[in-house]
Amino acid sequence: MKDPWGRIIDYMRISITDRCNLRCRYCMPEEGVDWIPMREILTLEEILEVASCGADLGIRHIKITGGEPLVRKGCCHLIRELKQIPGIEKVTITTNGILLGQYLKELTAAGIDGINVSLDTTDRCLFKKITGTDGLETVLESLRAAAALAVPVKVNAVSVDWSRWLEDGQKGIDWKDLLELARTDPIDVRFIEMMPIGSGRDFPAISHERLLEELKACYPGVQKDERVHGFGPAVYHRICGFQGSVGFISAIHGKFCDSCNRVRLTSQGYLKTCLCYEDGVDLRPLLRGELSGPEKKAKLKRAMGQAIAEKPMAHCFDELDSITEMKGMSRIGG
Ligand code: 5AD
Ligand code: SF4
Repeated sequence: MKDPWGRIIDYMRISITDRCNLRCRYCMPEEGVDWIPMREILTLEEILEVASCGADLGIRHIKITGGEPLVRKGCCHLIRELKQIPGIEKVTITTNGILLGQYLKELTAAGIDGINVSLDTTDRCLFKKITGTDGLETVLESLRAAAALAVPVKVNAVSVDWSRWLEDGQKGIDWKDLLELARTDPIDVRFIEMMPIGSGRDFPAISHERLLEELKACYPGVQKDERVHGFGPAVYHRICGFQGSVGFISAIHGKFCDSCNRVRLTSQGYLKTCLCYEDGVDLRPLLRGELSGPEKKAKLKRAMGQAIAEKPMAHCFDELDSITEMKGMSRIGG
């Protein structure tokens, strides 16, 4: 369906858990977070009910997020079921890659249409500092195994100046090392500007204009890639000799709200209409209320439609005081 600003909303990100097996410093506060009690988290059946209403309202693509979605039991089963919903054309997942190798077979058997792996560095020490876990090799192995399949694989890296985290001997580490993944394997490497959500506020965004200039200086043959790679706002470039493309998701410096196509469902059943604000509707009372059958579905669809009809026009990340979303990214799903 269309929102009040004429944008077609056909993409729903569904966070299926707030739990995670990593502790990325920009995502979870150092003192840790309290996990949401399981009774407050939607069951897989409830998630399917919302997805089915979404499909009736025009949702065509679903992204499964977390926390880390693969820590939730039944994640692959859910994907398989989502793929059966009439109208849903693609189901993709965003994972930190730790459990990916273990679930790769099940994910492909379920019909996954794309895998995004969040990975900010290919340096083992820095990975450990960022995530709190010595897991780089596990992620890289899973990533390469995924890239060898027919499913499109992307790496998402937040662009942060990590230099104050590095030991003297490591000072040479930067985005070029990550980009090597796109040379050696058919993986799109995408840089994401940090957004001032939760602990992300303590990690100021690096401007992608600067990054693109550095990229062009390094690889003079770099060219804009006009092929469609997904459903999101990334702008892609191709480098001669690289199998994958390099993408920029510049939420701050390249505000792309005009072409926003998405809503988000939190693991607690709140349908969020913009990352920046609390706006949206709590679907859980309707899911667990007295109505059932077609009446319940109609009520859910009305509530979702109304929330979309009030979707904010744009984020306000440039005015920190206007941000009303206080949840951290691990509870929103990115
Ligand atoms: N801004 C931008 N991206 C973020 N992520 C987590 N927190 C932020 C933030 N504040 C990213 C993770 C992962 C995805 C789920 O969201 O790095 O790639
Ligand atoms: Fe986990 Fe992703 Fe947050 Fe890292 S960014 S702690 S992998 S939810």
